[in-house]
Amino acid sequence: MNVRRTPAADLPVAKVNVNGVVTAGEHAVVSVFDHGFLYGDGVYETLRTYNRQPFLLGPHLARLRASADRLALKVPLTNETFDTRLRETMAEVYLEGNVTIRILVTRGVGELSYAPLVCPTPTVVIIVRAHREMPPSIWHDGVHIVVTSVMRNHPKSVDPSIKSNNLLNNVLAMQEAVRQQAYEAILLNHRGELAECSQSNLFAVRNGEVLTPPLDAGLLEGVTRNLIFEVGADIGVPVQETVLTETDLPELDELFITSTTREIVPVVRVGTQPIGTGRPGPIAARLLRRFQELADSMTRTSIV
Ligand code: PDD
Repeated sequence: MNVRRTPAADLPVAKVNVNGVVTAGEHAVVSVFDHGFLYGDGVYETLRTYNRQPFLLGPHLARLRASADRLALKVPLTNETFDTRLRETMAEVYLEGNVTIRILVTRGVGELSYAPLVCPTPTVVIIVRAHREMPPSIWHDGVHIVVTSVMRNHPKSVDPSIKSNNLLNNVLAMQEAVRQQAYEAILLNHRGELAECSQSNLFAVRNGEVLTPPLDAGLLEGVTRNLIFEVGADIGVPVQETVLTETDLPELDELFITSTTREIVPVVRVGTQPIGTGRPGPIAARLLRRFQELADSMTRTSIV
C-alpha cells in the first residue's frame, strides 16, 4: 500500500488508536463514509498529561459523554476501557515527556444520510502526540487577541456547551484572528456579550476579583475553567461568573485565557485596546503557579 507521509515539519509524530488498533499517525485511517468526516457528526476531548499521567481524565470523559448525549450518540466504551486504550496508545509513543491526547467519538460509517440509524457503530479514535510546551515568552510578554465578527453559536443552534467536531464557527473566528496576527479570537454571543475564545475560555481581573462569563452566555464549560474557581479559592482570590462586554475592556486590570493545552495565558491587548498596564498581570501569574502545582501534585498522587 502506498501511504503518503505527512510533512514532518508540520505534524509531530503521533500514535493513533482507531477502534482499538494502534498505528503510527500516518497510517491511521478512518473511512470517508464516516459521518464525523462527512458532517462533523461527533464529539471530542483534548487532554494532556503531567508526570505522564492523563490530567482530569474523569471530568473530560464526563464532558465527552454529556456532549455525545446531546447528539444522541452512544459512547461505546466504559471509562475503564478508555483508560486502557489511552495507556496502550501512550505506551507506543514518547517514553519520556508529556503528551497531548485527543479522543474523538463519531457517528461512524454509514450511507449519505443524516438519519443516525444508518450508522450502527460509532468510531472511537485516540490521537497521542508529544505535548508542545508553551514558549516562556507567551507568559513573559502576554498575547494580543481580537474580538471577531464571527458570533458564538446561538445555544439553540449547535450549542457551544457541546464539544462537537463541528468546528467551522471556531475555524472562521480563528481565521479572522490569524489575518490580524492575533493569538486568539474572542467571540461575542447573540446578545453582544463576551462569550469565550475559539479554543479557550476567557477571564478578566477587575478590582482584585476574577470574573468569567456565565455558562448561559453560551460557551464551553472548560475543564480548566472549572478548576480556576478552586485555584482562586486556594490563593484567596475570588472567582465569579459575571456578564462582560467590550465596554468593560478599558477598565480591566488583567485578562487571560484558559485551556487544557495552554493552561493560563495572559492577554495584554485586545485589538487596539491595551489591558491594564499592557503587561502580564500578577493575579494571572499567581493562578498559573498554583494551577501548575496542583496539576503536578494531583498527577503524582494519581487523583486524576
Ligand atoms: N479547546 N472553549 C472552547 C471553544 C474550546 O475549544 C476549549 C478547549 C475551551 C477550554 O476547555 P478546556 O479547559 O476543557 O480545555 C474553551 C481544546 C484545548 C481543543 O480544542 O483542543
